[in-house]
Amino acid sequence: MHDIVSKTDLRTGILERRAIMTPEARTAAARSLRDALLSVPEIEMAGTIAAYASIGTEPDTRSLLFALWKRGAYVLLPRLLPDGDLDWASFEGPDSLAPGPRGCLEPTEPPRGPGAVASADVVLVPAVAIDRSGMRLGRGGGSYDRALARVGPAILTVGLLYDTELVDEVPSEPHDRRVRAAATPAEGLVRFA
Ligand SMILES: Nc1ncnc2c1ncn2[C@@H]1O[C@H](COP(=O)(O)OP(=O)(O)OP(=O)(O)O)[C@@H](O)[C@H]1O
Ligand SMILES: [Mg+2]
Repeated sequence: MHDIVSKTDLRTGILERRAIMTPEARTAAARSLRDALLSVPEIEMAGTIAAYASIGTEPDTRSLLFALWKRGAYVLLPRLLPDGDLDWASFEGPDSLAPGPRGCLEPTEPPRGPGAVASADVVLVPAVAIDRSGMRLGRGGGSYDRALARVGPAILTVGLLYDTELVDEVPSEPHDRRVRAAATPAEGLVRFA
């Protein structure tokens, strides 16, 4: 009989593994992810990219955000609302971020509303694990399930992971949203059918 691991157990195990990664391994992973993502055709072509400023042990997105902004993309970043939903505002370079709730760095530009994510040509999201069907596990707020529900089916949505986090099966509930691809340091962009 096959044991279905709970969301909480899967999340805890992965966050423990992230916590013991060396700074060198983290830096190398962030660089590989950045380079892989910058050469994805949809990202090269995108006018607007919804992304996020990484926190804690997440793969570091700072140099990716900087590179996207430098090459002229309009980058939207989330602001956490009191009910757990996400609002979006534009990233205008590293000086346009300030600490928000729960240790996140958030954009200081005027918020454009939770629906603004629907204007993005590509959406990059944090993830703790993703399975080969694209089912995504996050940090447990349901914020990205809400945001991804507003994104059209033709839009490339990508969850950023470390190598061991693209797994066979992620437990899911009816509100959970899939992503269309994952990015890992070793495999680069992995698209799901
Ligand atoms: N559309 C929604 N509206 C209100 N609450 C929601 C919605 N989607 C999910 N939630 C709530 O969010 C909570 C956490 O969901 P879940 O465990 O799937 O988080 P997650 O996917 O890991 O987090 P995140 O999406 O923020 O990365 C659940 O209790 C769920 O009811
Ligand atoms: Mg979810």
